[in-house]
Amino acid sequence: MTQTLRIAIVMGSIRDGRLCPAVTDWLMTELGQFRELELSLIDPADIPMQTFADPLAKPILEGMRRELAAADAFILVTPEYNHSYPAALKFIIDSAYEEWQTKPVGFVSYGGVSGGIRAVEHLRQVFAELQSVSMRDAVSLANVWELFDEQGQLIDPRRPQRTLHKMLEQLGWWAVALRNARAADCLTPRLSPKGAGLRLSCT
Ligand SMILES: Cc1cc2nc3c(=O)[nH]c(=O)nc-3n(C[C@H](O)[C@H](O)[C@H](O)COP(=O)(O)O)c2cc1C
Repeated sequence: MTQTLRIAIVMGSIRDGRLCPAVTDWLMTELGQFRELELSLIDPADIPMQTFADPLAKPILEGMRRELAAADAFILVTPEYNHSYPAALKFIIDSAYEEWQTKPVGFVSYGGVSGGIRAVEHLRQVFAELQSVSMRDAVSLANVWELFDEQGQLIDPRRPQRTLHKMLEQLGWWAVALRNARAADCLTPRLSPKGAGLRLSCT
């Protein structure tokens, strides 16, 4: 039986003239070549984000949480803004909770000389708090404005493609392992009622 993996791709910016769609299009096209993957896309530009209580935002956020809940894994596409990641992405992350937990997260980052790696390092801290697992290998696009042609295509996709494949291998391993563990209820070691000792087996 072919297992499928559902990946929610989360875009990170909402700025007018943002490059996020070009980077995300590249990622979606690459991932689209794997028939085992089912993709969904979350774009913060579609979400009104004045406050969490905004009545206009509520149904959209609920829909987004359902997408996140259905996903086995996440890939965040984030630029670097002032040595971190954009506020719009933080709003998305903080709008959900259990949906992120015990699932793997990969990163495609972009920016100036750093290629967005400082944004990714901050995100790793955030996802540790959410009990998600962040992937070691991440795609990083430095001086991103030089990398795409006028049609919005990556001029030389070879290096990012190699890194993406490494990240996908890690993401796939964790996604399957954690999906099985969630299904078997293996994830909560419990203290033995008889005293010291953790019950580590699956129920
Ligand atoms: C508010 C702002 C802050 C930025 N800060 C950084 C930064 O700290 N480091 C960096 O490498 N690039 C920085 N950049 C460059 C962006 O990473 C780059 O312009 C990227 O395309 C922005 O993503 P977007 O086009 O999807 O909005 C910044 C850009 C903006 C708009």
